[in-house]
Amino acid sequence: MDRFEIIGGHKLEGRFSVQGAKNSCLPIIAATMLVQGETVLHNCPDLKDTEVAVSILNSLGCYTERQGNDIYINSDVNLENTIPEELMSKMRSSIMFLGPLLSRNKCVRIYYPGGCKLGPRPINYHIDAFRALGAETYEEENSIFFKNFSAPPREITLEYPSVGVTENIMTFLAVGQGDEIRIKNPAREPEILDLQNFLNSAGAKIKGAGNEEIIIKPVEKLHNTEYNIMPDRIATLTYLTSVAMCGGDVIIDNAVPEHIRKPIKLLEKAGAEIRDSYGIRLISHRGIKALGKIETGPYPDFPTDAQACFSALMSTSEGETEICENVFSSRFSHCDELKKMGADIDFRDGNAVVKGVKRLKGAEVYASDLRCGAALIAAGLSAEGRTKVYGTEFIDRGYENIEKVLRKIGADIKRLS
Ligand code: EPU
Repeated sequence: MDRFEIIGGHKLEGRFSVQGAKNSCLPIIAATMLVQGETVLHNCPDLKDTEVAVSILNSLGCYTERQGNDIYINSDVNLENTIPEELMSKMRSSIMFLGPLLSRNKCVRIYYPGGCKLGPRPINYHIDAFRALGAETYEEENSIFFKNFSAPPREITLEYPSVGVTENIMTFLAVGQGDEIRIKNPAREPEILDLQNFLNSAGAKIKGAGNEEIIIKPVEKLHNTEYNIMPDRIATLTYLTSVAMCGGDVIIDNAVPEHIRKPIKLLEKAGAEIRDSYGIRLISHRGIKALGKIETGPYPDFPTDAQACFSALMSTSEGETEICENVFSSRFSHCDELKKMGADIDFRDGNAVVKGVKRLKGAEVYASDLRCGAALIAAGLSAEGRTKVYGTEFIDRGYENIEKVLRKIGADIKRLS
């Protein structure tokens, strides 16, 4: 079975540039459907999920070509009205294709999306938002039909600042006719700003991403564009927590400190030294302090996607930390695996309580989702002895060549099958 084998205990030292952001790249790939002419995307990470996103475009009739980290896309074709069920089921973000496809085709059929197992991941907010924007919907077995007939209202308020819903309706509304439309209570994640910047680079008129209101003036069409995907803030945090756990001195040249202010503060509080005048440099002498409490929430709060790695970090801290997961209630599968490595973790009122131990021990562990896998790798790098991390297919969904990046900074990690 495919696995990563790690011999823990090496200090991490060196510098590198982090991959492009998976969670920017996916909605941007979907949004290229709106562009008349060619889109060139640079810095696209080569991941399982980006591969699926490109396959979805192909299944709709678009032309695509990948050259290294660049993807060339031409969507100047009549698009299919539906995405094959098999592709929809491969990842949650397939739902992001609904907005642009509905903008292009006026009547589409969408199968329910799949994705990592993080507990219930319904699409009710997506359906509600499109209904509020004037779409008619009806369900049939495992799919939903959306018909885009009436003109959208001047304003829509999201019940919850969902990342996917915000991205879906931004792309849906970018091209069209009529007056400005305001999205109130949108998600404010940096990936939303990246999507806005991409759409505007192609001629859209969108402002406010990252703030409490996004204002969209629909434009008639989008034109050719070339765009650079922003660096991945969650991969950045994965590598930073690994260095904090192992000790060492690493510079991530292209990391953007503004995207991760809260987690950076916590890393400092845990004892790491951070310099962020050019990229991010983290210096750690180990000796990690407990953080007391970590609570995830929509941006600018602490990101749920970094929770697993911070749980691993806290498992070797001096003291106790309560981890409250407020975004995906059952995103704790890493805890049982960390316990196999000697971590002391209990559950109290649905929260994980991590009591730091001196050192983790190598073990055979199983990743059941992407960030769980990242946390197990971080734990294995700092543990005593050999760790085997199974579930590489989950890790490959979000990390480009994770073993190569880590080997570059001194880790002893290899991929075996
Ligand atoms: N939710 C609903 N109904 C919906 C949509 C969402 O109940 O219709 C719930 C979700 O179940 C979850 C919460 O709302 O409990 C937040 O979901 P959101 O829609 O904000 O998340 P998402 O768009 O599905 C993106 C990222 C996730 C990241 C979350 C939160 C992408 C491709 N995915 O998911 O990334 O955890 O935002 O920041 O952008 C990851 O990279 O490991 C990952 C899971």
